[in-house]
Amino acid sequence: MKTQTDIVLYHGNCLEFLKKIPESSVRLVITSPPYNIGQEYEEKISLEEYLSFQEKVIKECVRILKPTGSICWQVGNYKENKENIPLDIILYPIFKKYNLKLRNRIVWHYKAGMTHKRHFSKRYETVLWFVKSDSYLFNLDPVRIPRIYKAKKDKPGSPLGKNPGDIWHIPRVHNLHVEKTPHPCQYPVGLIERFILALTKKGDLVVDPFLGSGTTAVTALLHNRRCIGIDKELIYIKTANERISKVIDGSYKYMSYLNPKLYPNSRLKDELPR
Ligand SMILES: C[S@@+](CC[C@H](N)C(=O)[O-])C[C@H]1O[C@@H](n2cnc3c(N)ncnc32)[C@H](O)[C@@H]1O
Repeated sequence: MKTQTDIVLYHGNCLEFLKKIPESSVRLVITSPPYNIGQEYEEKISLEEYLSFQEKVIKECVRILKPTGSICWQVGNYKENKENIPLDIILYPIFKKYNLKLRNRIVWHYKAGMTHKRHFSKRYETVLWFVKSDSYLFNLDPVRIPRIYKAKKDKPGSPLGKNPGDIWHIPRVHNLHVEKTPHPCQYPVGLIERFILALTKKGDLVVDPFLGSGTTAVTALLHNRRCIGIDKELIYIKTANERISKVIDGSYKYMSYLNPKLYPNSRLKDELPR
């Protein structure tokens, strides 16, 4: 049975709350931090200040992580002097400083978004997946996807399908998306679902220090994992709580990318993964 006690939501600065979480207690930290681009929930600060704060948060995340655990940092671009600077490039050295190893740089590709006239339109963001040690947990089977080509007779492969690879085609949460909340930068359940299923076991603790509308907590609960989510804006904590209540009463609608038979919640046919 899913219960609200499996989820703890904290309203406040993540740095304060992360310090209260015991060392080596968390299997997965997965988040999308602010990009410092002047969204409604952030004040644009200098790049140095931004990186210094990110480093403090990352250091705490490494401390609370189990030796078999993972950290996934989902980011796009930071903008300065009309230049688009990929945040994953400038954040990577911080993770290295704390001895994490990069396992994958997942490219999250989507088809729709803002169009631009002075450069090619942005159609992807990335997720950096880091591990703390070489004995990290990784379960491929729950996230295998259907094969496009028939398997060779001498190499039949897994009957459950193929490895999803490192480029994931998953629609963004646009205004008509079934998961859309008022949060301006929500990531989709389908993106987080793959990480949670592959990098954690049932009952494991997942932490999102920048929870926003609660996607990480919702996804964790849908798959019987526990979650601590933190956000400094009360309005988003309330949104997250509403979504969690729907998961608990069984009425939550979302788009899953685990099995084509599970997609009926989609209102847009062209969003079905190919
Ligand atoms: C990119 S959004 C996360 C969106 C989220 N992944 C979702 O699906 O809705 C970043 C969030 O970090 C929160 N935030 C920014 N600075 C914070 C801090 N110091 N402590 C806690 N939350 C913070 C913002 O309020 C915002 O909701």
